[in-house]
Amino acid sequence: MDAFGSSKPVNEIDAEGLAVAVFKDERANGGLLKSLDQAVGGLISEVTKSEEFVGKEGETAYFHVSGNGLKARRLLLIGCGDRASYKSAQITQMGGTAARFLRSKNLKTIAVVPRADGEAKAAAQMVVVGAIMGMFEPDKYRTKDKEQRQLKSVTVVVDGADKKAVQRGAERGRIIGESINFTRDLANEPGAYMTPTIMADRAKQVAKEFGLSFDVLDQKQMEKLGMGSLLGVARGSDEPPKLIVMKYKPSKSTSKDLLALVGKGITFDSGGISLKPGENMELMKYDMTGAATVIGTMQAIAQLKPSVSVLGVAPCSENLPSGKAIKPGDVLRAMTGKTIEVINTDAEGRLVLADAIAYAKKLGATKIIDMATLTGAVSIALGDVNTAILGTDQELIDEVIASGVEVGEKFWQLPLDAEYTKQIKSDIADIKNVGGKKAGTITAAAFLKEFAEETPWAHLDIAGTAWGDPATPYRSKGPTGVAVRTLVEFIERSAK
Ligand code: BES
Ligand code: MG
Ligand code: ZN
Repeated sequence: MDAFGSSKPVNEIDAEGLAVAVFKDERANGGLLKSLDQAVGGLISEVTKSEEFVGKEGETAYFHVSGNGLKARRLLLIGCGDRASYKSAQITQMGGTAARFLRSKNLKTIAVVPRADGEAKAAAQMVVVGAIMGMFEPDKYRTKDKEQRQLKSVTVVVDGADKKAVQRGAERGRIIGESINFTRDLANEPGAYMTPTIMADRAKQVAKEFGLSFDVLDQKQMEKLGMGSLLGVARGSDEPPKLIVMKYKPSKSTSKDLLALVGKGITFDSGGISLKPGENMELMKYDMTGAATVIGTMQAIAQLKPSVSVLGVAPCSENLPSGKAIKPGDVLRAMTGKTIEVINTDAEGRLVLADAIAYAKKLGATKIIDMATLTGAVSIALGDVNTAILGTDQELIDEVIASGVEVGEKFWQLPLDAEYTKQIKSDIADIKNVGGKKAGTITAAAFLKEFAEETPWAHLDIAGTAWGDPATPYRSKGPTGVAVRTLVEFIERSAK
């Protein structure tokens, strides 16, 4: 889908459908709404007076307006709630609702009027991110009732703004939105079609298309490096593990940092010998979302070209039971030399991340952010609203949270006091991979901290936020692509 920006008056916008934000209890008695109302013969004042449409978040009112004072043939009013709480998340959602609603009416070219305060460029970016995300459908393997309709273009309209700024914002939104959908597409693939080998191939394609350096470690190389923790997880599977490494290097750096993104890539998590219950196990195909988030973010970064170096590391493996699989009670030796008693083979994410974090450090990372569908406990703590963030560097954590606020994604910090580390003490090895029932998300992070050591590090537990259910007016059910846009924002800020 093409994305454009325009600073023309709305009545001159040449698109089939025009979507306009309307706030709670707003009437068409001034400004843009009034002139729009006049152009369509009073339809807006009529519907707002009737109270059929009061501008509540997610409400819509749709009109045929051919032959009126608009170039567009259709007008969609989108309720956006209180103007005071109309921020990044709501603007993005408005773009998604506009795109999904107008696609369902079989329109091909749409224009969106976000009516946001603040910079036109930022608003244009958010609307396009939302619109492109809104187009994602998880129905790839359907042969019937597949969503066939497609928008050709979305134009964001900010009347009177700097045209170049709106256009640049729309273009940035296209790059970021497509990268998010790329991540979602990978996350949605069944385990059989997204093995570690296939993931590495997809990452390689991205690297080639967008100009990133690429490397992949195979089992032999991992053995040489002593990655016993990652290899332990892979042992139960017939599919060989892969450690994906991507690198973005700017033509001119403004920062000495090498920022590493490390993402959990369990392409299917059955639990291993500590087998999961059958109910909902099919969802464990998305246990590679952390890795997909790394690859998607690298795809965006390669195009946006910030002036800071970024490393992407994704340890990929299946977690399956077999006669070769690791057993509860086994002891693994990680690349750093630390020994790990495996209490539960289903706590495999931290095992693959341990060696990947250590490897990122070996490659010179000065700051590390890892992301993983790591614990079920995070859904109990924060539901599907906030992503948990924990780490050792408060400045880094604060910057990620602030980047999230900027783009409309929520992160909530959980504590990581030294006391929690007691829970992962092992009787027979240095540490164990499970810390008991209490504070499961925190003890998982405490485990990772043993491998990040002194390097500034933050951890995102996306297990609760990476999968959206049910569908909403602005996005389908399924993978959400959470954190990609926050990480892009974070990286661009680090380059300033
Ligand atoms: N991949 C799961 C975590 C998960 C659960 C992600 C639900 C998404 C939705 C992870 O590997 C896991 O199994 N964690 C265990 C850890 C436990 C054994 C300490 C869990 O959370 O139950
Ligand atoms: Mg598991
Ligand atoms: Zn897992």
